[in-house]
Amino acid sequence: MNNYATEHETPAAGAAGETDLLIRQAADIIDAEPWYVAAMSNLSALIMTSMDRLNWAGFYLVRDGLLVVGPFQGKPACIHIPVSKGVCGTAVAQDRIQVVPDVHAFPGHIACDSASASEIVIPIHHDGRIIAVLDIDSPVRDRFSDADAATLAEMVRRMEQKLRWD
Ligand code: SME
Repeated sequence: MNNYATEHETPAAGAAGETDLLIRQAADIIDAEPWYVAAMSNLSALIMTSMDRLNWAGFYLVRDGLLVVGPFQGKPACIHIPVSKGVCGTAVAQDRIQVVPDVHAFPGHIACDSASASEIVIPIHHDGRIIAVLDIDSPVRDRFSDADAATLAEMVRRMEQKLRWD
């Protein structure tokens, strides 16, 4: 699953090199400013401009028992998502990465944009609980590979280690 280069390896040409670049750029953003709003804003822009075939990339934050939209790139989105509803709420309820190749086949999928066809959601933890999710949508079915999931999970791992959540 972790078929991407790490910071300790020489970046290979092609996809592995691009993945390594994305991780290094994300690390630079996180290191430059640990306040979560600044980091999430630039990370959503980084994802949207670095990965192809996307129509939405951003974050939902857990607030008063609901997921509330946070920094993102794309069309205006659903503001509130109940925990356990939709792909985002399912990621929180199950505390598991959700890779959905066809959102129309996902029971309870919340369609903020009818153009979305596939989606990936990754839970973000702080102090032993889920504080937010990274949510990315694509207008193309089956857009997100295991390698994409591993890369984005690595980005989230760095967020969990470094960001300041106040
Ligand atoms: N599709 C998500 C809702 C958020 S939007 O994709 C931005 C869901 O089912 O949770």
